[in-house]
Amino acid sequence: MNLFDVYPLLPVTPVKALGCTVWDDKGTSYLDLYGGHAVISIGHTHPHYVQKITEQLGKIGFYSNSVQNPLQVELAEKLGDLSGYPDYQLFLCNSGAEANENAIKLASFITGRKKFISFRKGFHGRTSAAVALTDNPKIVAPVNETDNAVILPLNDLVAVENALSGGEIAGILVEGIQGVGGIHIPDQQFLKTLGFLCLKYNALLILDEIQSGYGRSGKFFSHQHDDIKPDIITVAKGMGNGFPVGGVLIHPDIKPWHGMLGTTFGGNHLAVAASIAVLDVMKSENLIGNAGSIGRYLMNELANLPGDKKVRGRGLMIGVEFTYPVKEIRTRLLNEFHIFTGFSGTHTLRLLPPLCLTEKEAVYFMDSLKKVLIH
Ligand SMILES: Cc1ncc(COP(=O)(O)O)c(C=O)c1O
Repeated sequence: MNLFDVYPLLPVTPVKALGCTVWDDKGTSYLDLYGGHAVISIGHTHPHYVQKITEQLGKIGFYSNSVQNPLQVELAEKLGDLSGYPDYQLFLCNSGAEANENAIKLASFITGRKKFISFRKGFHGRTSAAVALTDNPKIVAPVNETDNAVILPLNDLVAVENALSGGEIAGILVEGIQGVGGIHIPDQQFLKTLGFLCLKYNALLILDEIQSGYGRSGKFFSHQHDDIKPDIITVAKGMGNGFPVGGVLIHPDIKPWHGMLGTTFGGNHLAVAASIAVLDVMKSENLIGNAGSIGRYLMNELANLPGDKKVRGRGLMIGVEFTYPVKEIRTRLLNEFHIFTGFSGTHTLRLLPPLCLTEKEAVYFMDSLKKVLIH
């Protein structure tokens, strides 16, 4: 059987990793400034993480959501504490798209409405409602096309209020920082005003923090830079540091009923053990603070590079938009300096390293990038 060939692949075969370093099958080490697409939060194969998952596997790896699972309760408590949402409720699932599907469904159940607002350049996943609210017609199959998706320009509050005033909108889905779209931070006051407008028109505000959450922005959630509290928050990626897990954080006023949401694998013992380990390490090693300070260093250095470019980001979620395609820069960083980086569109270099990136590693990246840009 062949693999279904949907991914353009880099010519590297990672076989081992630790912290921010990945080794390939020839023993070459690479500095990981991509974090497996913003997934690696506490660093590859962190000893506490490995120990927690291994121990759990030796006890029980899975049982369905029909029995008591105290690990889920422990995770919800730790997540509530570290994120600043101790009074919210947690629904566990397996991926980012699934977290958004459940958030959308929840808002629709609660409001009894069908339509949702999302934003241009936004990305919310590849499944049903999540892909319909994603601004990329190439990944929307005919079955996913729907009049229930209203995609508006980011930061256009007039357009948002116009759409809401029809009384048909169940919710607004917006990323804390647009990731796939090229690292775009919503204008100051935009998210806050969305919150007011949702209150005014009885819609729910859903913050997609799947890429920008879990400490990446230098706060637990990127929207916390704007001092707002959404009705629903979705998480995945950094939550499991590579173990597939997603979650929906739900305002205490939203009441569940049995059967309202559900999943076979969501919240299984192994995934939850991995997620608890991530929070333990994030807290004990102050990785959110590290993301903030190393991120500031990188943003300053990048801004001081010669030449025309735009630097956008927060913490360790950074985009550098050049006036020309970045393919050659990325290839040279990979081949000559052994550094993984990400991209967005053709012109934006995207940095999403593990949150434990050290100053020494950041300096190595900057020195390498300067050499690539000069020659
Ligand atoms: C903001 C955002 N939402 C949702 C998703 C979808 O997550 P997943 O690929 O785990 O379904 C992604 C993935 O890149 C994302 O960046």
